[in-house]
Amino acid sequence: MSADSSSGPKSEAAASETLRPEPVTTVKLKGTGSYTPKRVLTNKDLTEIVETTDEWIVTRTGIRERRIAAPDESASDMAVEAATRALASAGLSANDIDLVIVATITPDMPFPSTACLVQDRLGMRKVCAFDVEAACSGFIYITEIATAMLQSGRFRHALIIGTEKLSSILDWKDRATCVLFGDGAGAAVLSSQAPSGSGVIDTRLGSDGSSSGILYMPGGGCRIPASGESVAARHHFLKMNGREVFKIAVRIMEKATLEILERNRVPLEQVRCIIPHQANVRIIEMLSDRMQIPMERFHVNLDRLGNTSAASVPLALDEALTQKKIGTGDYVVLVAFGAGLTWGATLVKL
Ligand code: ACO
Repeated sequence: MSADSSSGPKSEAAASETLRPEPVTTVKLKGTGSYTPKRVLTNKDLTEIVETTDEWIVTRTGIRERRIAAPDESASDMAVEAATRALASAGLSANDIDLVIVATITPDMPFPSTACLVQDRLGMRKVCAFDVEAACSGFIYITEIATAMLQSGRFRHALIIGTEKLSSILDWKDRATCVLFGDGAGAAVLSSQAPSGSGVIDTRLGSDGSSSGILYMPGGGCRIPASGESVAARHHFLKMNGREVFKIAVRIMEKATLEILERNRVPLEQVRCIIPHQANVRIIEMLSDRMQIPMERFHVNLDRLGNTSAASVPLALDEALTQKKIGTGDYVVLVAFGAGLTWGATLVKL
């Protein structure tokens, strides 16, 4: 047995932390699309629902308004709209897709998956479809899963969607949470191609279940199934310790962004735009300050959409592309954190 302390499982684990395996194919971001519901809920409207002010919400969060889905509009309805636009932007039809992954914490139902509903509604072939639950980091998680599946060579075109109807799980009596969130969907088409220098370069994901209690929804699972008591106790609503989440979010997003760049030897100065999870503009301002990059290099749309959890990153990505803030050849970092806790960062070269 070797006495060399640098060998063995520990050092292997350390090596896999720092080394990026060489991809066998390029996974290209072929197209994006988004959808937001028509109804705008302004901060002023919220003052009629809870005791709050426009000034409090704007100064503490940067949010001015958010979109709220119609009562009969579900996560799958919004996903279908965003996906249709992503397919059009990719120049592909639903028939070309052989993998559908949806990230959401507000699925139409606990089961079947929202991805299966989308597969049917888009008239796709009977392809692999499933949901992933990683809260606000959901889109980064499904980007990594889809990338790995495409790189396996067994899939060619993946449709990945973040969609949320958060208004359905908000406690409209809790002013500390109901002012923060909104509804919407963002989608992307990823396709495998011959190796090239662009595409999804790399993703890092992480989790820490020991902090699960700072952001969660206690009811509706097997631990607290729906009952008259659970509803009366308001267990079927999102709960959050905002201050704790805030502190962790800044640290995690900075670390995840710097790690993905370091691992791929891309200097921060070469990154055209950072697309962060849209939770609170103060979190993004702190990131800008700590990383010493101007706010203009972050794409921010939370003033108009609030926090849309798994839809937040793809909605912002689609908007930055549509506004031509980013384009071919640019390095872009997508970075998010959310309940779980979960987090992740993806480096893309467009
Ligand atoms: N209007 C007026 N006052 C309010 C409101 C409101 N809407 N909400 C809370 N307050 C009050 C509180 O009651 C408290 O009053 P008190 O001092 O008399 O007790 C005071 O404002 C300060 O409350 P804090 O919670 O300490 O306010 P803070 O400055 O921390 O801001 C916020 C709260 C905006 C939630 C912030 O902590 C935050 O953004 N946290 C991060 C949230 C986040 O990023 N979530 C993302 C993950 S979401 C996901 O994964 C699904």
